[in-house]
Amino acid sequence: MKKVVFITGISSGFGKSIASMLAQNAYIVYGTCRKPCEHDSKVNVLLLDVTDLQSVEKNVNLVLEKEGRIDILINNAGMHTGGAAEVIPFDEMKLQMETNFFGFMNTIRSILPAMRKQGSGRILNVSSIGGLMGLPFQSYYSASKFAIEGVSEALRMELRAFNIKVILINPGDFHTHNTQNRLNHSTSDTIDAYKDQFQKTIDIIEKDETKGWAPEILARKIVKILEKKNPARRYVIASFEQKLAVILKRIMPGCWFDSILRGHYGIK
Ligand SMILES: NC(=O)c1ccc[n+]([C@@H]2O[C@H](COP(=O)([O-])OP(=O)(O)OC[C@H]3O[C@@H](n4cnc5c(N)ncnc54)[C@H](OP(=O)(O)O)[C@@H]3O)[C@@H](O)[C@H]2O)c1
Repeated sequence: MKKVVFITGISSGFGKSIASMLAQNAYIVYGTCRKPCEHDSKVNVLLLDVTDLQSVEKNVNLVLEKEGRIDILINNAGMHTGGAAEVIPFDEMKLQMETNFFGFMNTIRSILPAMRKQGSGRILNVSSIGGLMGLPFQSYYSASKFAIEGVSEALRMELRAFNIKVILINPGDFHTHNTQNRLNHSTSDTIDAYKDQFQKTIDIIEKDETKGWAPEILARKIVKILEKKNPARRYVIASFEQKLAVILKRIMPGCWFDSILRGHYGIK
């Protein structure tokens, strides 16, 4: 039987590649966009904003009425704020959490009743390397991904009895629309004390992302993960250096690790 996938945020980047690749691999794919978006004809496009619970529930019910089940949820839709924590407006700090945390929970909580009744399901939560280490000038983004890390670890245990697996995906730097979509608080609206440092660090962040891998690389990996009978709890999909950073964070004294990160981001 073909598996039914519900994936959020397919207008660009990871979502777009994953949705197309899964559709080409004989999955029945329902992917969401906030506004009408062009897509592979095999992908069923739904209009949905993850911050709007009613729109999430309406679309989940629509898929359940049509297919009778949802086997896989890929929580991918996300946004990114950049700037000093002191400078980012409160509304944007809230939007960061509304999208990357509450938005994830809106889809998980809407789909879980069906997965529980089915007695099976897989939830892939797209976190980030930024969910494993706090990244300077991306503090609220990191906070939102840390929140997803925590909830995923807890859910994994709560859902075990129902044969629902929760899998964390931690991508490193990839070249998607993430860079151009990021809400940056840069030169004109940044308090003088942060201005130069922010500019220096954001230039490094953007260079890393622009030089990052193509989203198709991550999509191929996701297809392989979904084929596994017993997937791992977490997949760090990143360059050697970024994978190494994840390991070093675990084993090094915190102050040493901080100085490595500061060095990378040009912070004295
Ligand atoms: N690129 C990277 O290097 C990287 C690294 C680690 C993790 N990630 C994570 O990967 C995921 C996908 O990001 P991406 O890199 O592919 O960036 P992207 O190209 O900007 O795609 C983000 C997607 O999320 C959608 N989205 C944003 N807010 C939404 C909302 N409120 N409701 C519904 N959809 C919404 C966007 O739709 P619109 O077109 O309507 O804005 C878009 O389809 C995100 O969770 C991101 O944090 C990315």
